[in-house]
Amino acid sequence: MPNNNTKARKSNIPKRDNGWQEGGQNPVSDEKSLDSALRPSHWAEYIGQEGIKENLRILLHAAKGRNQPPEHILFYGPPGLGKTTLAHLVARENSSQLKVTSGPAIEKVGDLASLLTNLSPGDILFIDEIHRLNKMIEEVLYPAMEAGSLNIIIGKGPSARTIQLELPPFTLIAATTRIALLSSPLRSRFGGGTYRLEFYTLDEIKKIIERSAKILGVKLDDRATEEIAKRSRFTPRIANHLLKRCRDFSDVHKLNLNKDTVCKALKLLEIDEAGLSYSDRKILETLINKFNGGPIGLTTIAAATSEETDTIEEVNEPYLIQLGFLERTPRGRIATKKAHEHLGLKYVSH
Ligand SMILES: Nc1ncnc2c1ncn2[C@@H]1O[C@H](COP(=O)(O)OP(=O)(O)OP(=O)(O)O)[C@@H](O)[C@H]1O
Ligand SMILES: [Mg+2]
Repeated sequence: MPNNNTKARKSNIPKRDNGWQEGGQNPVSDEKSLDSALRPSHWAEYIGQEGIKENLRILLHAAKGRNQPPEHILFYGPPGLGKTTLAHLVARENSSQLKVTSGPAIEKVGDLASLLTNLSPGDILFIDEIHRLNKMIEEVLYPAMEAGSLNIIIGKGPSARTIQLELPPFTLIAATTRIALLSSPLRSRFGGGTYRLEFYTLDEIKKIIERSAKILGVKLDDRATEEIAKRSRFTPRIANHLLKRCRDFSDVHKLNLNKDTVCKALKLLEIDEAGLSYSDRKILETLINKFNGGPIGLTTIAAATSEETDTIEEVNEPYLIQLGFLERTPRGRIATKKAHEHLGLKYVSH
C-alpha cells in the first residue's frame, strides 16, 4: 500500500543535531520523538474535552455490544487541539488498526479505492484535512461510507460499465480545521457524530504542561507553569512547544525554570502576555492603524500583512475571536475595544 501518511510527509525534515547540551535529565532529545513521547496514548492521559470523550466512550461501547464497527466520526477545530490524538485513542480503545492518510494525499479515485480495498474488517481509516479532498473522490466516498461498497467505472464511452465492490466493515474518522469547507452531503454521513474540539481551560493546559514536564524531565515551579499556560493559546501543541523552548532557554542560560525565565524566553519568541504572536499583533495593528479598526475583508487584511488568508482563518482568527479581540461580521473583520486596549491604542467608536 502506498504510504499516504501526510503527517509523516509534513515532518519529513532532515533531523539535525542542534549541538545543544541536553543535560543528563532529558532522556528524549530529538524534536520528532519528543512530539510522539508527549502524545497521550491512553484516555486517562488525554486531558479535557470531557464531553467528547464521554460521547466516544458510549459510541464505542455500544458498537462493541452489537459487534459492529463504530459509525463514522468527524473531528473539527483549530490546529493542535488533539484531533489526531483522539483518532489514535479511538483505534486503541477499539483494538483496531488505524490506517492514516489525508485529503491532499488522495489525488485520484484509484488512490482511495486502493486504500479502501486494502482495509481489513474492523480497521479505522483516518483521513486528516478532509476538507482538501476533491469533489470527484468525495462522490466515491459516499457509497463507501453509507453502504460499504465501492462503485468503480471501468472503460470510457458506450462500453463503460460500473462494477461494485463490497468493502470490509470499517470506520472512517476524519479531521478538519475548516468544517465550513465540507459539503453538506459529506457532513451528513458521519453517523457516529461530528465533534468540535474546544480551546482548553487554563487548568487543563496547566495539567498538560505538568504531564509533559514530567515526561521531558523538566523541573518548573507552579508560577512558571501558569505563565506558559496563559500564553499557550489554550492549545496543547503550543503549550508543549513553549515548554520546550523555555527549557532550551533555561538550559543555555543556566537558569532555573521559574516565571522570570519563562517571561524572558517568551519575550525572545515575541509571545506576549495574552499569548499573541507577532503575526496576531500585526493583523490587529494593521486593522486598527490602516483601516480604522474595520470592518475590512479578509483578503485585504492578508494583502496588507503579507499573511495567507488560510493561515489567518485557521490559526490567527479562532484565538483572536476567543479572546474577544476580533469580530467577524458580514461586512468584514473588526478589531474590538479590548484589542485596542491590549495593544495600548486609542479606541474610537464608530
Ligand atoms: N487532550 C490532550 N491532553 C494532552 N496532550 C494533548 C491533548 N491534545 C493534544 N495534546 C498534545 O498536543 C499535540 C497536538 O495534538 P494533535 O496532533 O492531536 O492535534 P490536531 O488537532 O490533530 O492538530 P492539526 O489540526 O494540526 O492536525 C499532541 O501531540 C499531544 O502531545
Ligand atoms: Mg492532526
